[in-house]
Amino acid sequence: MSAPWWQTGVIYQIYPRSFADSNGDGIGDLRGITLRLDYLSDVLGVDAIWLSPFYPSPQDDFGYDVADYIDVDPIYGTLRDFDQLVEQAHRRGLKVIVDYVINHTSDRHPWFLESSRVKDSRRRDWYVWRDQPNNWVSVFGGSAWEPHPSGQFYLHSFLASQPDLNWRNPEVEAAMLDVLRFWMERGVDGFRIDVAHFAMKDPLLRDNPMKSTLPSDAYKLNSEYAAMEHVYDKAHPDIHALFRRLRRTLDRYPDRFSVGEIHEYNWQQWAAFYGQGDELHMPFNFALLPAGIDPVRIRAAIIGMESVLPAGGWPNWVAGNHDEPRIASRLGKPQAQAMAMILLSLRGTPTLYYGDEIGMEQLEIPPERQKDQWGRRKPGFGRDGCRTPMQWSPAHHAGFTTGSQSWLPVHPDHTACNVELQRGDAHSLLELYRRLLRVRKAAPALTMGSIEVLDSPPEVLSFRRSLGGSISFETRANLSAEATVIEPGGRIAVATSGEREGQQFDGYLEAWEAVLVEA
Ligand code: GLC
Ligand code: CA
Repeated sequence: MSAPWWQTGVIYQIYPRSFADSNGDGIGDLRGITLRLDYLSDVLGVDAIWLSPFYPSPQDDFGYDVADYIDVDPIYGTLRDFDQLVEQAHRRGLKVIVDYVINHTSDRHPWFLESSRVKDSRRRDWYVWRDQPNNWVSVFGGSAWEPHPSGQFYLHSFLASQPDLNWRNPEVEAAMLDVLRFWMERGVDGFRIDVAHFAMKDPLLRDNPMKSTLPSDAYKLNSEYAAMEHVYDKAHPDIHALFRRLRRTLDRYPDRFSVGEIHEYNWQQWAAFYGQGDELHMPFNFALLPAGIDPVRIRAAIIGMESVLPAGGWPNWVAGNHDEPRIASRLGKPQAQAMAMILLSLRGTPTLYYGDEIGMEQLEIPPERQKDQWGRRKPGFGRDGCRTPMQWSPAHHAGFTTGSQSWLPVHPDHTACNVELQRGDAHSLLELYRRLLRVRKAAPALTMGSIEVLDSPPEVLSFRRSLGGSISFETRANLSAEATVIEPGGRIAVATSGEREGQQFDGYLEAWEAVLVEA
């Protein structure tokens, strides 16, 4: 049996608001995406697209506050537009993954409107109500409990307008599994499950214990949230039985896929979300984010992840998304080239974030134009900077919209950094991504082969991918600002400095240079 598409393929995340605007209102939409599918399938050469939420929503968290799980927000189009997108994607061999926001709805969702109306409403128990708050805090800051005119408090792990669903109520589960069926019937191939592990909490809603010391590496969390051990407010062990039921729902349809957004940096606990191959197809592996471009940390991430992976468990890697600062800004431009090579030659499914393939930079947004509520509540935490419009061309608004404005400002560097200019320029990041994707797709060792981390000087990351009788590949990345010389050998298949491709590797690596050699 050949390997499933989500193991051999590369996923590309689209933030629908920011990808392509087809009607000039300054907001990206589904038709805009459909019009750009050739770029994804033919120019870039990815295999699947993941669409961040496009469902009806007040847009308090840009669609992660869902007011109707089974429709399309008029801003983004209609269900017909969605069907056309799926049809056109499938025609090009692209799979379609949609976001499945399970932990919370919008406070405008009819379920919550009914739940909150009166204490004894039929849907009261669909959300989490309590007479008194416990000590839980929201990821976005402040208490996780919102007082309500009905006299009780409701739980919201994120914004107050994102009340948490009560998955312990079987009616909630049934309604949410129906949502999966609805989209699978429409041809959707997979689901990215938003903050998947948050769905199950301590049934007694006990206070979280406080940490005795604040961890120095509290990655991207505000101090109040980082100060507690999150033992009761998420990832209760009952989550595993829930994921098994969810998986059974998916498995009734052929070739469907689930990937959970799970920020869990303890490898054992992370790996538990694969279950016995009967829970999530994969939990997102975010270890490259805190690792930066540090070879020691990347090496540790590869070894750590590989050592806990359960039998049959398939790895995956993420270097950027709509919640993280842009790779090119976080790591630097030459570093972003090295990261592209690492990401696309590691063992496991890579997920790319729109615009990272051309090295789009983070944009500093003036406070009056900031849209993300997290940033507006907690300065410094805003995520708008990585959500600016896709830079298609040097034209007005980077070719994103024909309208007079765009929902977030377009990065002024779009005149130099865009798809049109990079295409055909052998030195561009886009062409490096294209070459990497092409070589990866053609090489069984790179898609399905094993991985072995090789001995190398401390500043160099080196690993080998091999599979049976097929050609093996070795990635050699100099992750330092100084040139270095390592053991030579092998024909260079892809190099961050393209002119070396086809040559024998002589062991010399420029600062931040990386090569993929046929071993
Ligand atoms: C996830 C999403 C993020 C959103 C949050 C709340 O972390 O990626 O964008 O704000 O969930 O839904
Ligand atoms: Ca639009």
